[in-house]
Amino acid sequence: MKLEKMADFFAERADMYDEHMLTEVEGCKEGYRKMASLIPGNTEAILDLGCGTGLELDEIFSLYPDINVTGIDLSDVMLRKLREKHPDKRLSLICADYFAENLGESRFDCAISFQTMHHFPKNKKLSLYKKVNAALKENGIYIECDYMVLTQKEEDFWFAEKERLRRENGITDDGYYHYDTPCTVSNQIFLLEKAGFSKVTQVFRTENTTMLVAEK
Ligand SMILES: C[S@@+](CC[C@H](N)C(=O)[O-])C[C@H]1O[C@@H](n2cnc3c(N)ncnc32)[C@H](O)[C@@H]1O
Repeated sequence: MKLEKMADFFAERADMYDEHMLTEVEGCKEGYRKMASLIPGNTEAILDLGCGTGLELDEIFSLYPDINVTGIDLSDVMLRKLREKHPDKRLSLICADYFAENLGESRFDCAISFQTMHHFPKNKKLSLYKKVNAALKENGIYIECDYMVLTQKEEDFWFAEKERLRRENGITDDGYYHYDTPCTVSNQIFLLEKAGFSKVTQVFRTENTTMLVAEK
């Protein structure tokens, strides 16, 4: 199997991306609606990490058309699709790596991510979650919906597979290559608590699509 660079992987698939997520990835369609339903009514500003074409934002805008969104994504092709769908919305789109981006302090009422964190190891996610926590206003929440597994054995298997494929592909750089490395639900909860969130609750799970709400 050939590992593709993360941004190239999504750019190549951008045209059929929405259809794929809504019809082929178990739990996503309901997950997008569920996430929108969890956005607190008084939310003014949202941060969306790995927003892509914005399937979660389609649902959020249908409930809150005037909401202010900052979306970060590595793929300019995916971001272009999002902008085309919502030309009139308050969207500030940043084509960047969310691990490297300065997210600021106490700027957002709510942060979200949907199906993007399962590409990264725990140490990287921990440092990002700390930044997300700092970027939230007091009483802010972070909602993550992602591919999560239930056993450590499964998690270890996928990370070992990725390492094996990196070797097989002769990859020695530390760039981002697309491969799914889901963590367990309990490791995700542990990471978010370690990053400083006061309470983390699982609110949804269909197949492996799992949603957690982390309260600042
Ligand atoms: C599976 S898509 C999810 C898109 C959208 N959230 C959804 O659910 O429809 C994952 C997205 O995360 C983006 N992404 C992956 N790693 C990233 C990173 N380090 N920084 C910013 N975006 C990233 C990809 O470019 C892609 O658009």
